[in-house]
Order: sequence, then structure tokens, then C-alpha cells
Amino acid sequence: MDGPTGQGRGPAARDWARALAEWAIPPEIMATAERSPWAHPVHRFADRADAAVARPGGPSFERARAALAASPGTVLDVGAGAGAASLPLAPWTSAFTAVDRVPAMLDAYRERAAALHRPAAAVEGAWPDVAPGVAVHDVVVCHHVVYDVADIGPFLRALTGHARRLVVLELPPRHPLTWMAPLWQAVHGVVRPTRPTADDLVAVLCELGLAGDLVVDRWRRAEEPDVQPLAERAALVAQRLCLPQSREAEVAALLDGVDRSGLGDVVTLAWPGSP
Ligand SMILES: C[S@@+](CC[C@H](N)C(=O)[O-])C[C@H]1O[C@@H](n2cnc3c(N)ncnc32)[C@H](O)[C@@H]1O
Repeated sequence: MDGPTGQGRGPAARDWARALAEWAIPPEIMATAERSPWAHPVHRFADRADAAVARPGGPSFERARAALAASPGTVLDVGAGAGAASLPLAPWTSAFTAVDRVPAMLDAYRERAAALHRPAAAVEGAWPDVAPGVAVHDVVVCHHVVYDVADIGPFLRALTGHARRLVVLELPPRHPLTWMAPLWQAVHGVVRPTRPTADDLVAVLCELGLAGDLVVDRWRRAEEPDVQPLAERAALVAQRLCLPQSREAEVAALLDGVDRSGLGDVVTLAWPGSP
């Protein structure tokens, strides 16, 4: 047990880091990549933010809104992308802060916050490195970021320490690229990992002493998880598989037979802040 006063790197946090490290792409395959297999295309997250603002809903939104309903407050969005997690809360929010390590994501965020007539500060950098320069906010949201974070204990601690009222963290039950395992097997003969999972994250929260008032909602997004045309999806999947553009048609054919039914599954974790 790491407990509230430890480094945040107890057995469950180390287990999370070990499981994430298994996702490293074998170096001989990585050496053939022409583009980063891990890139987050900004336009996809911009579309996602626009859809979330147009049709707000789901447990993550409802939990954050409930925490702001009695009196509007400030919202900090960590790993903000273009703002899908926070901008739907604009009617209950006096000011936003977005943290992201990708400047183009922050540009997309600022543009959308301005359209909603809300002040938005943008902090470029990696959480929790930049956390000491960020003020405490009423609500902290962090959606679809943690599978990118190896040193998870200090990351979660800093989220908690920056929330006066509530932290709302959303993640898929499994690593978001788990569905691609059959493609890795078919193209490279490589077996991809199956952990960490949302349950592993809950284990870390327990270890940090944050599970006492933790609320867990397991749910499924109502809308289609992916509406991009097949050719566009194949282009991104080829990039993720470290394949050149010349093999996108082959990937499109493979994609046809891959089970993507679990892609809309989501877990919302919410716990009280503790500045
Ligand atoms: C998958 S996107 C999710 C974006 C947005 N939260 C959403 O739900 O649409 C993850 C974002 O987190 C950012 N990110 C990942 N790790 C981060 C870290 N340690 N600190 C700051 N930003 C991070 C990435 O640059 C990316 O914009």
C-alpha cells in the first residue's frame, strides 16, 4: 500500500507501468516506421470535441455537471485535446484551463472555448510536470489520457491536488488499441498485450488512498464510436502498424474482418478533490 503520503509508486502503480511498457513496439518494426505510430491527429479530436459540445451526455459529463450545478466554477482539463471532456460544461463554468503537451491541440481548444465565450488558459506541457504552475480549480477532468501515462501515481495525485470539488476521469475498460491485436498478428506476427485495464487503474487509486469515495460508472457510448470513412481509418491504422502508405489498401481489406464492437465501452471514475 503506497498510501496518501508515499511517492505514488507502490506495487499497483509499478504494475501499471510494467503493463504499459509491454505496449512498446518491437524495435525492428519501429525502425521501419515512416511516421509516428502513436500520433493523435488533431482533426479527429476536434471533431470529437464538436460532437461532445453539440450532444453533451453520459456519466462523465453528468458527474462533472452535478459538481458545478449548485454554483458555477472553474474547470481544469488535463490532456485536453480539443476539449471534448470540458467544453460541454461551458454553461456551468466561469473559466477553463487546458493542459496538453501538443500545441496544435491547445490551439483547437482555445478556438472552441472562444466560440463558447468562455475564458480559457492554455498550458503547454506534460502533466504532472507543469502542475506546480497550475492553480487549483473546482473540477478537474481528464478523459482518455491515462493509457499514455507510465508514471501514473504522481499523475493521479496531481489531478486530486488540483480539484476543490471533484475529479472526473474517463477511460476505456482496456487500452484503446487492444482491438488492433488481430492486425498486429496478421501483419507482423506479433502478439499485443491485454493490460493494463480500467480495473488496474482502480487498483492504483486504492493504493493511493483515493478509493474511499470513488464512484465507478461502466457504460457504453450511444453514438457510433467511429464514423470516419474506411480509407481514412485505414490510413491511420497503417500508420499505427508502422506500415507505409503503399499498404493502406491491404489494411483496409483486413479492417473489414476485425471485431470493433467493444470500442464504445467506457468507464467513468469520479472522486473528491483534495487541494
Ligand atoms: C486521446 S487524446 C484525448 C483528448 C481529450 N481529452 C478527449 O477526450 O478528446 C489524449 C491527449 O492527451 C495529451 N496527453 C497525453 N499525455 C499527456 C500528459 N502527460 N500531459 C499532458 N497532455 C497529455 C495528448 O497530447 C492528447 O492531446
